[in-house]
Amino acid sequence: MATKKFAGPSPYAVNATYPEVDFRHTEYLNNVNTKQSSASVAPVTAAIFGLGRAGSIHLSSIIRNPRVVLKYIVDDRQERFVNLKTYWKLGDEVTFLTSANAERVYKDKSVNAVFIGSPTYTHHNIVVNSIANNKDVFCEKPIAETIQETRKCYDAAKAKGRVLFAAFNRRFDPAYKALKERVRQGDVGHVQILKVTARDSPLPSIDYLASSGGVFHDCLVHDFDMSCWVLGELPIRVQATASALIPEIKAIDDFDTIAFLLTFPSGAVAIGDNSRFSAYGYDQRLEVFGNKGMIKVENERPAHCFESYIGHDSVKQNPIYYSFPSRYKIAYQRELEHFLDVVQYGVPLDVTSWQTLAVSKIATAAEESARTGNTVKLDWSNDDIPVIYS
Ligand SMILES: NC(=O)c1ccc[n+]([C@@H]2O[C@H](COP(=O)([O-])OP(=O)(O)OC[C@H]3O[C@@H](n4cnc5c(N)ncnc54)[C@H](O)[C@@H]3O)[C@@H](O)[C@H]2O)c1
Repeated sequence: MATKKFAGPSPYAVNATYPEVDFRHTEYLNNVNTKQSSASVAPVTAAIFGLGRAGSIHLSSIIRNPRVVLKYIVDDRQERFVNLKTYWKLGDEVTFLTSANAERVYKDKSVNAVFIGSPTYTHHNIVVNSIANNKDVFCEKPIAETIQETRKCYDAAKAKGRVLFAAFNRRFDPAYKALKERVRQGDVGHVQILKVTARDSPLPSIDYLASSGGVFHDCLVHDFDMSCWVLGELPIRVQATASALIPEIKAIDDFDTIAFLLTFPSGAVAIGDNSRFSAYGYDQRLEVFGNKGMIKVENERPAHCFESYIGHDSVKQNPIYYSFPSRYKIAYQRELEHFLDVVQYGVPLDVTSWQTLAVSKIATAAEESARTGNTVKLDWSNDDIPVIYS
């Protein structure tokens, strides 16, 4: 009887609420109530370039999304076309082309969006040709191999009034987004330290690494983007150290083991550690420490498995997600939705041109620091940086 007084009114008499962070429930409610975010618009007609690791992730989201009609697949591994068509159950409305025939995509006026998942060294060319032909572009990071080429891509997009989206998928991860929002609303106070850990899995092939543009531009751009995006500022000092413990990676003059320090104008410091290969799975963690508290996002685990196992000798938990496609599955779907919202409803682009260019500048400075042993100071006074980061 002692607790009966806490019973309150019947749950039927109370308006049901649910936590906003349960975005899956929101999606379910929208489906049940067929709630549309805005006026209904025609689906986007699209082409996708490159169907390797990243391209397959995007293809899987695209063909399940009623907001996109896929018209072309462009890839240079022609021998895979028959299997791809069967596997994804694609009809004759989807045309397969090699990059030698990409002009057909550019000249097809019905195509209004191009998705790029081909190797980094091909991005600039595909972006520029797509934009010249009035297509909006979703491009895997990095947008191009150099800052100069990246700037040319954004200048072309601006001149033509087209969308150029750099697919920094981690920004669309629900946990990281919630962490950023809490940091920005002051939950941890004045931030002192941000710690980011990113250890890759599975180990990428040497062929991929040799044409990736190097680990700083291929991998650490995500860590630099996370740090700046959460803190809302750009670093004034970059220090990095790196080594190659895997002989094949050393042979291509790249690194597999990296640590970095970024110092920000507010006094906040970002500390990062990054590895090309983590034997126990795709290790992704983010922590922010401030004068009022600490917030962190830990590794996620497949939720369909058991929570924990207790025996005489140990307590076991599920392994963490093994790979980037599994850990960031939802982030990849959400970045596609965001791109479509920008293209179809004109919502503001979350990943802006100057943010992508800034990250590229930090990556270049960090690589210089790792190769020379010097601290690199960054001056942003000649960059076109708005006062509010995001
Ligand atoms: N955001 C992420 O999580 C993430 C993860 C992996 C890769 N990436 C990025 O995605 C891009 C591709 O990486 P990947 O690992 O998928 O590479 P990959 O080697 O697995 O696949 C590349 C594919 O592109 C095809 N290709 C080559 N040249 C082409 C061209 N000119 N036109 C069309 N297709 C072409 C290849 O035949 C291959 O099928 C890179 O820029 C990489 O940085 C991003």
